[in-house]
Amino acid sequence: MKKKIILIFFILICIGCVLYCSILCYKNIIAVQTETDVTDGKEITKEEYLYKEDLLHLGYSINNINVIEKKINNIDVKNYLLSKKYNNLIEFLPSPYFNIAHISRYQNYYDRTSYTAEVCVLYVEMGLDYDFYTNISETDTSKRELMIVNKYNALDSNYVPVLYNLSSTYGSGKLESTAHGAFINMCDAARLDNIKLWSVSAYRSYSTQESIYNSYVKRNGQEKADTFSARPGHSEHQTGLAVDINTASSSANFQNTEEYQWLINNSYKYGFILRYPDKKNHITGYKYEPWHYRYVGIDVATKIFLEDITFEEYIVKYLSSSY
Ligand code: DAL
Ligand code: ZN
Repeated sequence: MKKKIILIFFILICIGCVLYCSILCYKNIIAVQTETDVTDGKEITKEEYLYKEDLLHLGYSINNINVIEKKINNIDVKNYLLSKKYNNLIEFLPSPYFNIAHISRYQNYYDRTSYTAEVCVLYVEMGLDYDFYTNISETDTSKRELMIVNKYNALDSNYVPVLYNLSSTYGSGKLESTAHGAFINMCDAARLDNIKLWSVSAYRSYSTQESIYNSYVKRNGQEKADTFSARPGHSEHQTGLAVDINTASSSANFQNTEEYQWLINNSYKYGFILRYPDKKNHITGYKYEPWHYRYVGIDVATKIFLEDITFEEYIVKYLSSSY
């Protein structure tokens, strides 16, 4: 009798064990299914799974989490997301130009402007969250025709490119060798279309730019002068890659001429871009200059023309990793 009781007790314990194990297995299957739901069928580590669970509990959607997943290996992104320190981090993340090192700049810029998160990332990468003529770097002249000279990137006062004189057929001044050849090709092509183009101002030394800028400041005050004249060291004319064509005055209304129309339609084919387009002054720092063209090479000029972007945008979109 005693043996029977022990046997029944033993059988009951065995049944209990089997039931317990079955429940554990079931729970595990459910957990694996949930992981798959969250990760779209991809395999992830336990740590990543728990992290995603945390994000779901914090209110991030599956779609947002899928965006985060692309940057999930970045420990800073994880920590910032979990801490919820930057309110709009989740909206900055999808930008292809997103750089976690600039997260506080994105957030500050977003908070003090009405730009979308996407635009904030692009503009911060261009440095536009700093006032013009602050946060200035010396430009890398080894980039040659792709060097950027603007209100954040300056040339040394001693920088002088190798220059070639323009013959009087092409106006006056000197240009850097590649730009010189390209300008001549462009003028010759225009002439075949009965369009006459010539340079009124090409290379300008640091000291020439200094006198020009100072005279404008004297006449108009610095705030106004800064909208149309570069401070010394910040003029593209010092690169020898820029040229003012036919005029350099707003009152000439060059934008209404057939020469301008020809340049808009054709200058990129010779490697030149309209450097200070209308309504882009918040990016370039200068008001519309329909006469100022900058040599950047045919491929880059074509891309800038087709995408209707500024040189600053081009650099962030296509060259920032090499800058
Ligand atoms: N007018 C252009 C911005 C210059 O001074 O270089
Ligand atoms: Zn100019």
